[in-house]
Amino acid sequence: MPGSDDIVAVACDHGGFALKPAVLEVLQEAGLEVLDLGTDSEDSVDYPDFAQNLAEAVISGRAGRGVVVCGTGIGISIAANRYPEVRAAVCHDETTARLAREHNNANVLALGARVTGPEVAKDCLRAFLQTPFSGGERHERRVDKLGRLPSSA
Ligand code: RB5
Repeated sequence: MPGSDDIVAVACDHGGFALKPAVLEVLQEAGLEVLDLGTDSEDSVDYPDFAQNLAEAVISGRAGRGVVVCGTGIGISIAANRYPEVRAAVCHDETTARLAREHNNANVLALGARVTGPEVAKDCLRAFLQTPFSGGERHERRVDKLGRLPSSA
C-alpha cells in the first residue's frame, strides 16, 4: 500500500545524527509530516536496524517516502535497498538528487553526514522532495525491473 507523500520517514545511525536537524528543518519548512524513526543521539547503533524500520514504514504505507542518513549514506542505503520496494539513492549534490527522482523514481534519499555538509544536504533534500519522476516507457520499464527479484526477472 503506497503511503502519502506528505509523510516522510527519517532514520539515521549515530554517524548520521549530526545531519538530522538539517533534514528535519527542510521537512518542516516544506510542511511535511515527519515519522521520526531515530536514532536520537551519537551513541553507537547498527545502521541496518534503522534502515529496516524505515523500509518497513515505507512498504506498509506509514510513510510515502523516506530519508536515511549514516556517516557516508552507503551502509544505510545498502541495507534499505535489500527491500525490492525501496529505491534508496545516495546523493551528494542537487543534481544527483534530481536525477534520482527523474530517472530512478527514488523513494528514499540517502545522505552521508561525514561527507556532505548541511547546506548541500538541504539542497539534495529539497530537490528530492520537489522533483517528479519523469516517467515514460523506458524509465518505467527500468524502474519496474528494479522491483523484481533476480530470480523472477
Ligand atoms: C558508523 O561508524 C559508520 O560506519 C556508518 O555511519 C556508515 O557510514 C556506514 O556506512
